[in-house]
Amino acid sequence: MDIFTAIRERRSCRNFLPDPVSDETIEKLLEAAIWAPSPANNQPWEFIIIKNQEVKENIHKESRVCKKRLFEKSGWNWIDRYQVNFLVEAPVIVAVIGDPEKAGAHKFLEGTEGTYQHACAAAIQNMLLAAHALGLGALWFTLFEKEDIKKILELNPAKDPVALVCLGMPAVMPTPPPRKDVKGKTVYMR
Ligand SMILES: Cc1cc2nc3c(=O)[nH]c(=O)nc-3n(C[C@H](O)[C@H](O)[C@H](O)COP(=O)(O)O)c2cc1C
Repeated sequence: MDIFTAIRERRSCRNFLPDPVSDETIEKLLEAAIWAPSPANNQPWEFIIIKNQEVKENIHKESRVCKKRLFEKSGWNWIDRYQVNFLVEAPVIVAVIGDPEKAGAHKFLEGTEGTYQHACAAAIQNMLLAAHALGLGALWFTLFEKEDIKKILELNPAKDPVALVCLGMPAVMPTPPPRKDVKGKTVYMR
């Protein structure tokens, strides 16, 4: 698939079929992920491949609690309608774990914290595009409290669960949410 087509047609998938995703396919996605850029090539990512149903259920439970807390804090009504069943329905969840220690030069520069997260984000986008090119659906998911996910995944407390990527064959693909025109987002300094 042409790169521009993949970028334009990729969507966030929230409805998955139960068909399994093979380890070979997951490895292809991770291979795409690790060719992302990172500061000084420090590659601050690690991946946990979650196929275990009990772990998925624990994540689902945690996310529902998180939704409740979010509703209490924000009062946003849409939260009630937003279901996170894809956390148990997706055959695979890839947890993308960042290492804040892998900050390179940014350890010594003011106001540039979090570059390991930028690199993880680039890796995630590569993964999403590769998944789309292979006919899979994928979702970049972050509606969780990091400390709770650290406990569920038994992570080193110093590591950062940047995102959970849900993967599987898409049952339904959403219509593309609109984008604002690029002209309104761009200034040229000639
Ligand atoms: C950093 C980040 C966090 C996101 N977190 C969530 C999430 O927690 N739940 C969710 O359903 N979608 C999440 N998304 C997906 C966005 O909702 C989605 O990308 C956006 O609505 C545009 O839709 P599209 O991806 O189909 O173009 C996230 C996307 C990004 C980049």
